[in-house]
Amino acid sequence: MRTSRRLPLESLAPYLVDVPHPGFVPPDSPLLAPTPPIDWRLLFDNDHPIEIEVGFGKGLFLFTQGQARPVTNFLGIEIERKYVLITATRLAQAAVKNVKLACTDARWFLRERIAAGSVAALHVYFPDPWWKNRHRKRKLFTRDFAVECARVLKTTGRLHFVTDVADYFAESVEMLKDVPVLQTLPVSNEDTDYLTNFERKYRLEGRAIYRALYQKKPSGPEA
Ligand SMILES: C[S@@+](CC[C@H](N)C(=O)[O-])C[C@H]1O[C@@H](n2cnc3c(N)ncnc32)[C@H](O)[C@@H]1O
Repeated sequence: MRTSRRLPLESLAPYLVDVPHPGFVPPDSPLLAPTPPIDWRLLFDNDHPIEIEVGFGKGLFLFTQGQARPVTNFLGIEIERKYVLITATRLAQAAVKNVKLACTDARWFLRERIAAGSVAALHVYFPDPWWKNRHRKRKLFTRDFAVECARVLKTTGRLHFVTDVADYFAESVEMLKDVPVLQTLPVSNEDTDYLTNFERKYRLEGRAIYRALYQKKPSGPEA
C-alpha cells in the first residue's frame, strides 16, 4: 500500500468513531463508565451486515475489502493512532463509505460497545504476540476475548484468525475449543485471498502461516 500524507482531521472525521479511551485499557478498569452499544444503523446509515477487524495496522484488508464488498459495513479497531489516521486517509482519498475506524483497545471496545449477536464476521489477523513479560497483559487472545468474540457474533457469524506464531496459534485454538457455541470450519482457499500487510510480508519471506475459521452455531445463544 502506498503511503500518502495524512489528510486534516476534519476530512477524516466521517471515518472515525468517537472513543473515550484511546490507549490500552486494563481489564475491568474502574475508570470506565458504561457506554451504550454502537447503533450500527446510525453509524452506517443502512442495515448492511457488519464485519469487524481487530488490530488492522496499516489497513490493507479494510481498504481492499471495503471496496470489493460495498454492501457490507466494516469497523476496524486499532490501538495505534498513527495507523488509524493513515488508513482513514486512504479511505477518504478513495471515498470508501462503508468502513469506519475506532482508535482504542479492541478488548474493551468489543466488551463495552458491541451488542450481542450483531456482527456477521470478526477478522483477527496477525495479532501482536507480546513476547515480553511486562507486555503480557496486552495479549489479545485470552479466554475472555474468545468468549467476547462468540458473544458479538450473530448465529452463523464467523471468526477468522490468522497468525505466523505457532505457539500463539495453538494456545488460542485451545481457548476457542472451550467456547461451546463456536464450531471449527475448514479454511478454504477463498479465505486466504484476504491479504493484510503482515500476510503479504510474511508470505514473501516464506514464513509458515496458521489459519483457523470458526462459526457460531445456529442454536447458540446471542447473549
Ligand atoms: C502485528 S500487527 C498486524 C496488523 C494487521 N492485522 C496485518 O495483518 O497487517 C497487530 C496490530 O494490532 C494492533 N493491536 C494490538 N493490540 C491491540 C488491541 N488490544 N486493540 C486494538 N489493536 C491492537 C497493533 O497496534 C498492530 O497494529
